[in-house]
Amino acid sequence: MADLPTADPPADRRLARDVARWFAGNARPLPWRTEPRDPWRSLMSEIMLQQTQVARVAERFDAFVGRFPTPKAMAARPVDDVLELWSGLGYYRRARALHQCATAIVERHGGAVPSSIEELRALPGIGRYTAGAVASIVFGQPEPLVDGNVSRVLLRVHGVQRAADEPRVQAWAWRRAQDLAQAASDVPAYSEGIMELGATVCTPKAPQCDRCPLRARCRARREGATDRIPRPKARADRQPLAMTAIVVSDARGRVLLERRPQSGLWAGLLQPPCVERAARTPHSKAAAVQSLGLQDSVDVRGRANGFPFQTTHRSVVVRVWKASTSNPSAAGRARGPGARWYEVDHLDALGLASAQRRMLEAAGVLPFSDGDIKAPPTVRMR
Ligand code: ADE
Repeated sequence: MADLPTADPPADRRLARDVARWFAGNARPLPWRTEPRDPWRSLMSEIMLQQTQVARVAERFDAFVGRFPTPKAMAARPVDDVLELWSGLGYYRRARALHQCATAIVERHGGAVPSSIEELRALPGIGRYTAGAVASIVFGQPEPLVDGNVSRVLLRVHGVQRAADEPRVQAWAWRRAQDLAQAASDVPAYSEGIMELGATVCTPKAPQCDRCPLRARCRARREGATDRIPRPKARADRQPLAMTAIVVSDARGRVLLERRPQSGLWAGLLQPPCVERAARTPHSKAAAVQSLGLQDSVDVRGRANGFPFQTTHRSVVVRVWKASTSNPSAAGRARGPGARWYEVDHLDALGLASAQRRMLEAAGVLPFSDGDIKAPPTVRMR
């Protein structure tokens, strides 16, 4: 894909070097980060860290190492002992896999964690990520690893506005990670460092770019796009929702808003009068105006730019109509006791949700607050 950059060996060497140097001065003191690195501690920590926060694993880690200091010690105990200690960490399949992994290390490798990526991957419970982590962090092998933190750093540095879970983007991230691991002169520090950078500095929200060793070369930062990269996951299971909003202004420049129901999506928050349905196509103007009871009290002036909107569980399509009224009390009455006229200057204090804010922005009632919608509202009648 044209927007997915490829290897640039001199730049990659510099990037890997800067990450490794940063890590040397900024690594959190986590209990598995003993020097020299112990392969078994590292392997256990990586399995525990899959789906569990660092802080929770850190709390438990010493107890694990104390009870199971080696693969042999774990393999000698029934799996229930591992499960018992695992309790509260969730995803118990990992505890069983760790026990099977210890057993396989004893049976196949005499109790020593193997160093080759192929042998690591052949162990139960060890996937591409964990094998790459152990091979590179412990054994210094230039093997790639990609987790959510690493892919976010890579997408941002390169300014790639895509979702990290797109298969082609994933394949690209692994290729970039491979190039960078090969370009690194200090593979362990680079490899764990790029994860650490994603976990502590290049965070999903509010990244601390001022502290980032890659800030000078980060395209997302340069373009002010860190909050758009990575793009939200395309969730197949999001339910469609189509909304038609009628943004009504009166002659004094006030806008009519009403409260959403106290349960469900955006519970109890304000919105312009709106009809919605579980579908991909919003109601037409006439159907919306009619079903909102506004047909006798407002004039619909034109259609503004609609927009798609993602919530955790819904994929929303919003259509926006601009309307005016010379009879605000009739329009207010039509919408019932929950509807009120608001001074536009006071809207900021109301804590509007972003979809509702964008409806008002699209209708020209509020100024655009970010670069998401660039075009001015269209005046398309339908
Ligand atoms: N998350 C998973 N493994 C990690 C590691 N080794 N360092 C920091 N964060 C991690």
